Amino acid sequence: MIEIKGVSKRYDRHLYVLKGVNATLKERVTTIIGRNGAGKTTLVRILSTQLFPTSGTAEIEGLDILKDTKKVREVISSIPQESQLIGILSPLEQMQLYLMARGFSSSQAKRESEYALDELEMYEFRNAPSDTLSGGMKRKVFVAMALAAKSPVIFLDEPTTGLDPLSRIEVWSAIKRLSSKVILTTHYMEEAQELSNEVLVIDQGNIITHGTVKSLLSTFDGKMRAEKLEGREFDIKIANVSIKYIDVNEVDEFVRKGYDIKRINLDDIFLSKGVMLES
Ligand SMILES: Nc1ncnc2c1ncn2[C@@H]1O[C@H](COP(=O)(O)OP(=O)(O)OP(=O)(O)O)[C@@H](O)[C@H]1O
Ligand SMILES: [Mg+2]
Repeated sequence: MIEIKGVSKRYDRHLYVLKGVNATLKERVTTIIGRNGAGKTTLVRILSTQLFPTSGTAEIEGLDILKDTKKVREVISSIPQESQLIGILSPLEQMQLYLMARGFSSSQAKRESEYALDELEMYEFRNAPSDTLSGGMKRKVFVAMALAAKSPVIFLDEPTTGLDPLSRIEVWSAIKRLSSKVILTTHYMEEAQELSNEVLVIDQGNIITHGTVKSLLSTFDGKMRAEKLEGREFDIKIANVSIKYIDVNEVDEFVRKGYDIKRINLDDIFLSKGVMLES
């Protein structure tokens, strides 16, 4: 369990980028979503002890991130959003170094690294200099690293950004097979829906919604999304797209009016709060 207690952060004097975040994360996989600059990375960096909060604190598995920082580091592993591999070292070499620094024996580190690389279809590249890997492949090495450590708690900041659809599914299935608690950020709504039951939506440093996917979607029970370029009827307008939430029995009427009808998904949690897309 992770308990976030009044966490605030400002990088400079004036602007708070986290404004007293409180939340108890209970599910095995928690997804944090929010627009660019919402504060997701800042929150993840604070929880994974890479950054101090300006005020507030958090407990990870009963350990305080400020008072028990060293112990917290022993139970977590994390991949930051912007991470670089050492170009001349191969994936296997870097993973082994990482795992040995975490207390694995050299043979154990090799075994776990190979297993995780294989799980992400990266085994054939295990000995290649990291410089020669594509951006998405490098991302997968980091995911493999975090997963191989098998820490009780794993933070993944945008693990699948830049990955092709197949690689994304490989990462999802690896996360599903873990027993660790996972906190991940993503911009892909289907990822949140696929992986986690618990979603935290952050906007401008505040939690705007927190709940199970089911409970978040339940406010839209019996509704559909109708969309039309420059449509005359709308609840929200994003750029020149009109979006209206309609009852299922209004579908025929809106189809006749030239609207495209879509099923409700997590995007609508954002859209309905007017925060997802630039207008
Ligand atoms: N080192 C820093 N110094 C100053 N401001 C920062 C720093 N890091 C982040 N910020 C600011 O804090 C706010 C939140 O940034 P953060 O990286 O947490 O957002 P995010 O939700 O992870 O966004 P994204 O989806 O783009 O990754 C932004 O306004 C950003 O400009
Ligand atoms: Mg970020």
